[in-house]
Amino acid sequence: MPSDREAPLIAREAVGGSYFLLTFRHPEVARQARAGQFVMMKAGHSPEPPLRRPFSIMDVAPELETFTLFVKAVGSGTRELADLPVGHGALCLGPLGTAFSPPPAGVEPVLIAGGYGIAPLLLWSRELKRAGLTPRLFYGGRSRADLALEPAVEALGLPHEFSTDDGSYGQAGKVTEAVARYLANSGPAALYGCGPHAMLLAVASLAERRGLRAQVSLDPWMGCGLGICLSCVVRVQRRGEERGKYRCACTEGPVFDAADVVWSDEAASRSHREEAGA
Ligand SMILES: Cc1cc2nc3c(=O)[nH]c(=O)nc-3n(C[C@H](O)[C@H](O)[C@H](O)COP(=O)(O)OP(=O)(O)OC[C@H]3O[C@@H](n4cnc5c(N)ncnc54)[C@H](O)[C@@H]3O)c2cc1C
Ligand code: FES
Repeated sequence: MPSDREAPLIAREAVGGSYFLLTFRHPEVARQARAGQFVMMKAGHSPEPPLRRPFSIMDVAPELETFTLFVKAVGSGTRELADLPVGHGALCLGPLGTAFSPPPAGVEPVLIAGGYGIAPLLLWSRELKRAGLTPRLFYGGRSRADLALEPAVEALGLPHEFSTDDGSYGQAGKVTEAVARYLANSGPAALYGCGPHAMLLAVASLAERRGLRAQVSLDPWMGCGLGICLSCVVRVQRRGEERGKYRCACTEGPVFDAADVVWSDEAASRSHREEAGA
């Protein structure tokens, strides 16, 4: 059950560019959250923006009753959170949504992160490692500045590869190109993706071409996080269904099987957002 309470900010770390690590105290989120789940947050009681914003949970410390977010400040909601003074409270509802599920025995988990999409995949790496698995993590961005959590990835002690579109760090090119090169010689793999829409689409088509299962975490607009406002619907067609159904990404996602997502609809909703100046 999600819990709604004020969560004091315990620590803030600027990690380059507009990226921040923010640690909050919230015992229920710290105890219950699983990788892929998210919280709806809003700094203090400021009137702007009126609605809370969704953020994936990047880490939890149940013994300290804290959880950590990796936030890219892009607009008023994220900036207000990033500017919150330590000790001040944020409104926090969570944990919400679905979590990633582990691969079958003998299948290698291959995690693919773009930009702030690294957040849930760091927690997923730790959960898989605790379960005795060895996930392989691919972390890409437009340039080196977008790989702000590179030290945290190195510290995991798991196989990993970095890539940048402009070649300023790691392999040059899209992160999914690095994944495709790896998969060409690997054994059975299950893909897990979180990042920009184009990257998720590439993950879905890579999985389809190679006959692999992929789970992706989508990030549509979210107003409530509770299945009430319907701002987050995505069309999903599960096996056995004759046609796709609109499903709330906040309650039935954000993690979906990539093969079930009707990607043509997803692309259309993205372009409406872009046209609207989003
Ligand atoms: C399930 C989920 C998990 C998320 N996890 C994280 C996370 O771990 N870290 C993080 O920094 N952000 C995450 N986001 C995105 C974050 O919620 C948005 O960046 C935030 O809502 C922007 O609010 P704002 O008021 O700062 O910006 P707004 O003023 O609302 O928008 C400012 C600009 O940000 C862009 N923007 C806003 N929302 C999105 C979005 N969802 N996707 C792409 N572009 C967007 C728009 O292009 C717009 O121009 C997640 C979103 C979802 C749905
Ligand atoms: S965010 Fe309101 S229904 Fe999903």
